Amino acid sequence: MRVLVSGGAGYIGSHTVLALVEAGHDVVVVDDFSNSKPTVIARLESLSGVHVPVHAFDLTDVDKTNALFAVEEIDAVIHFAGLKAVGESVRRPLDYYRTNLDSTFALLEAMRRHDVTRLVFSSSATVYGERAPVPYIEEFDQLASSSPYGRSKVMNEQVLTDVTLATPGQRVALLRYFNPVGAHPSGRIGEDPQGIPNNLMPFIAQVAVGRRERLQVFGGDYPTADGTAERDYLHVMDLAEGHVAALEHLDAMPERVRAFNLGTGTGTSVLQLFRAFERAVGRELPYEIVGRRAGDLPAFWADATRAHEELGWRATRTIDDMCADTWRWQSQNPEGYPDGE
Ligand code: UFG
Repeated sequence: MRVLVSGGAGYIGSHTVLALVEAGHDVVVVDDFSNSKPTVIARLESLSGVHVPVHAFDLTDVDKTNALFAVEEIDAVIHFAGLKAVGESVRRPLDYYRTNLDSTFALLEAMRRHDVTRLVFSSSATVYGERAPVPYIEEFDQLASSSPYGRSKVMNEQVLTDVTLATPGQRVALLRYFNPVGAHPSGRIGEDPQGIPNNLMPFIAQVAVGRRERLQVFGGDYPTADGTAERDYLHVMDLAEGHVAALEHLDAMPERVRAFNLGTGTGTSVLQLFRAFERAVGRELPYEIVGRRAGDLPAFWADATRAHEELGWRATRTIDDMCADTWRWQSQNPEGYPDGE
């Protein structure tokens, strides 16, 4: 298939571009580079050995999105593009709702006009909200979330469901990611957050490389084995392969809208991940336990049975793989991607 990857220069998008090419698909990227660098594309081309056509514009622009579909032959869309920082979304809710919904509206409109019926959407485990029983299962349907970012994912799922059911032939897979970490084993592409990292793994990696003094562990009094919060970390390469599996399964889905959890099915605590990272680096790293972060849940992980049974997908990489690959990326690129090379 010829697949349009929105946000293809971003963290998960870039790894998915490689997995798509590896699986024999053609890729077209659309990205406005608001949270990524063009260097990513050059590295994708050198790793994959193929030319990756790029359209650099903001997807919320309906006319440009339509024009893109007019010039490129597209068989399917994987939609990653959007704003994704939970804390920032609380301070700038309108930006989050506008960007994350308008981009979907523009894509759906262009897909309808150009008769493109296959869509894979980048959703999040945050849609289960704080009342869902753990492990999370896809049938839980009182979707909710505690942040504007998370609610923009819930709303997107609802919009995509309604529009898909009203559009003959259209199919959508809603992929609910747990906590993606890790990097491509080459060390050439990885996660490159701008400013102070919000998420645990990039923060630990920056402590290890000397960009941050110490990790602050948010909360040591959770009702978990070691008192720190537990999450379902999955390797970004497994996640990327999950997108390929979902894409290739779309036409065979018994229902035209289907949600899939992409996780390992196992919880790992903050301290367990930190210790694993120390093993990857080969030395002890500084940390301190501080108060809980507002809005954090104590523990959640995926029931990933559906993805295994229906997509034939399963996460295979371990926590040690995730740490080793993150460390390779971070130590080879201590300041992240260069502006040019
Ligand atoms: N943590 C620390 N110190 C840090 C950063 C994080 O102790 O410096 C802890 C957090 O408190 C949490 C765990 O590490 O217990 C994981 O935190 P992340 O920020 O890495 O991930 P979250 O589970 O909070 O967030 C993820 C996704 C969001 C999504 C959210 C809810 O990044 O997109 O899950 O599902 F909205």
